[in-house]
Amino acid sequence: MSKTTVETSTNETENKLWGGRFSESTDAFVQAFTASITFDKRLANQDIQGSEAHAAMLHKVGLLTAEELAAINDGLAAIRKEAEAGEVDWSIALEDVHMNIEARLTDRIGIAGKKLHTGRSRNDQVATDIRLWLREQVDFISEEVTRLQQGLVQLAEQEAHTILPGFTHLQVAQPITFGHHMMAWYEMLQRDFERLQDCRKRINIMPLGAAALAGTSYPIDRQFTAELLHFDRPSNNSLDSVSDRDFAIEFTSAASLIMMHLSRFSEELVLWTSAQFDFINLPDRFCTGSSIMPQKKNPDVPELVRGKTGRVYGHLICLMTLMKSQPLAYNKDNQEDKEPLFDTVDTLMGCLRAFADMMPHVETKPESMRRAAMQGFATATDLADYLVVKGMPFRDAHEVVGKAVAFGVETKQDLSEMKLAELQQFSDVIGDDVFDVLTLEGSVAARNHIGGTAPEQVLMQVAGAKGVLAAR
Ligand code: ARG
Repeated sequence: MSKTTVETSTNETENKLWGGRFSESTDAFVQAFTASITFDKRLANQDIQGSEAHAAMLHKVGLLTAEELAAINDGLAAIRKEAEAGEVDWSIALEDVHMNIEARLTDRIGIAGKKLHTGRSRNDQVATDIRLWLREQVDFISEEVTRLQQGLVQLAEQEAHTILPGFTHLQVAQPITFGHHMMAWYEMLQRDFERLQDCRKRINIMPLGAAALAGTSYPIDRQFTAELLHFDRPSNNSLDSVSDRDFAIEFTSAASLIMMHLSRFSEELVLWTSAQFDFINLPDRFCTGSSIMPQKKNPDVPELVRGKTGRVYGHLICLMTLMKSQPLAYNKDNQEDKEPLFDTVDTLMGCLRAFADMMPHVETKPESMRRAAMQGFATATDLADYLVVKGMPFRDAHEVVGKAVAFGVETKQDLSEMKLAELQQFSDVIGDDVFDVLTLEGSVAARNHIGGTAPEQVLMQVAGAKGVLAAR
């Protein structure tokens, strides 16, 4: 990790970059309080990238000589290396990553370093840095989402025929297939992926050139800088450019939805690994034990993911509140955008990684799931549908099956375990063929339409998803 120096004596800490109009030095505490270097040093690489493009543009329009540009590029390359190696002694007196790097550059190369800030401000610089950084993070996150989706699709294919009870109100409702359940999670992540890509479009617009707020009097070429930095285009309005943090909020909102999905998956994994459900086994390497109860194997990874969700929601509210009262254009408030954004990315990446690593190794327990599906009269709807096919109105069928279920509760047997004569007490249209629909296999196989739980449909969805993922 790189170091950060906190000077305590006010005298030595005058800011060389903006000290001109001040008659006394900044109070030492105020200096530390207003500085962002302790966290924005994370943007060092993007700051250098932005400076390289800005310098190339200044040279193109005649504001830097070829020698000056070469000196700037050499200096920046050296600072990038130092920063990567953690060798930069970041200074609080120099407030933020932008002024630290600029001062360091000037120390190294002299006068050319002082020319780099021509036609730009830290206001457009910081907005550019965050966009460059977040654009890259969105790409990493999208890759992890894809990896998790791949794991789910693989599991769905393996378990396309495995039956478990589906729940509503956490009560056994109807039999479903495990593959179908995994593909439900896949669909949520598919929307998440699309949201990330959509949000990336608005991240990828370049604020640089907006300068402090109004643009600059130099003949800058923003199109050229945008191309060098692989932005889609320069932004349209300088005031909006330096003050806009919508993209960070959109991202954090997309991140919150991903966390919400992961938290829902987590909740199910926690339930499913409990002795009461016993539907799956998580490999030991994703679990931990208890220091007092030797028998315990706890699903810590999903529990932690569920717990971390609140943090990301908090960052979303934090950023929304940060922006809500800011008049145009840049305000120092905006410095507070970084920590929530950084923590959102770190938290999300960690959770996605844990899930993407873990999901392909989930072991199902088909017998347990089957037993659970047999317990809750999961095929009651199938019996009603059977009666409807035989000509009974659905409401009457619902009533008949309700009575059959009550009988089952009383006699402690599932519908499929009753004798034909027992079933016929409730309706004489019931024939021998009823047992085809009362089995779990018959029930899931019957839901054979787009989006249904039948193994055939699950395998079709799996094939479609494989195509989508392969095209990324
Ligand atoms: N550290 C500042 C931030 O993170 C950089 C921009 C500061 N600009 C200014 N005029 N004070 O937003």
